[in-house]
Amino acid sequence: MKFYRDKLMRKHNTLALQARADAFVCVTNDDELLESLGWARTEGVAVVVLGQGSNIVLAGDVQALVVQQAVRGIEVLDTLNSDVILRVAAGENWHELVQWTLQQGYYGLENLALIPGTVGASPIQNIGAYGVELQSVLLQVHARQIADDKPVTLDNAACQFNYRDSIFKRECKDQLVITAIDIQLSRRSSVNISYPALATFFAERPDVEPTPQTVFDAVVSIRRSKLPDPSIEPNVGSFFKNPLLRSEMAALLLAKHPGLPCFSQADGSVKVSAAWMIDQCRWKGHRADDLGVHPQHALVLVNYGSDSGAQLLALASEIVSSVHDAFGVELEVEPRIYGLNP
Ligand code: EPU
Repeated sequence: MKFYRDKLMRKHNTLALQARADAFVCVTNDDELLESLGWARTEGVAVVVLGQGSNIVLAGDVQALVVQQAVRGIEVLDTLNSDVILRVAAGENWHELVQWTLQQGYYGLENLALIPGTVGASPIQNIGAYGVELQSVLLQVHARQIADDKPVTLDNAACQFNYRDSIFKRECKDQLVITAIDIQLSRRSSVNISYPALATFFAERPDVEPTPQTVFDAVVSIRRSKLPDPSIEPNVGSFFKNPLLRSEMAALLLAKHPGLPCFSQADGSVKVSAAWMIDQCRWKGHRADDLGVHPQHALVLVNYGSDSGAQLLALASEIVSSVHDAFGVELEVEPRIYGLNP
């Protein structure tokens, strides 16, 4: 294990933005993690935990020890009648996990195929796509406290999951290094194709039977058709969350803008499509100063060769303002922003 000083970070964020970290270390086991946390305490520097950097914006230099969590391993903890419980280490790649579970005949993750990033990052924003969220399979999150190394375990309820939200973005922000998650999957094949894009995919292909494998293939195909590959066009997926509005507010908005896609939530709120509103404001395909809005999906900002996270945030602010002016709705940035130093 090697500690780097003044580390250039472009390779460690999928937006390929340039910034320096005061220090950087990649940990591949628990002892290395403990040594790194001890080093940060001795040096008196903050700790920033990173997976594959697929949901961060580097707006400037990071005054911290960046700990890249790369501990690997998948363990079958228990096999129940129709279910299996897995412990997956935080540094595993999410999409590789999805593929592996499908090969083993463990079902439940197919709708979450092709989401970039690591397993350790997945509970932070409660990753979700095509009608499934991590919270539906997650049993426990294991972590260490940055302040004193203490191991802690949070069960599903303690994680306080919500749409793109969890306790790890709030009370536990910057307090923990997630080390592993336990998930419960099914050994009986069942599928969820309720999400409109998936339902349409199978409706248009009546000869394709919906199975975990074909749902996986469908999600991969839908994502590839409209979301850019970060290794070719650097991005962090959706740059903004879909706003959750009170139902009265959503009804008023829908009356004015009948095309607005709306999704009623279990708690009575209504999720409205940020992509649609950005699209209506004519941002899709916008490109200037090596930054732009993806031509196939208005929620995705793309770095076509800029170094500057600050400039990217300036573009994001312009988009937020124009959506606010047109719809009276405040968009919230989804990725975590680092390097906004005082
Ligand atoms: N739409 C537009 N213009 C666009 C793109 C989409 O009008 O440029 C409309 C679509 O026609 C559709 C609606 O917006 O009616 C929703 O589009 P989509 O199915 O692509 O989903 P989304 O709400 O834009 C969310 C997630 C994605 C996830 C998809 C599928 C958020 C912030 N994003 O996008 O997650 O893949 O649903 O479940 O919730 C990510 O977080 O990086 C991500 C890609």
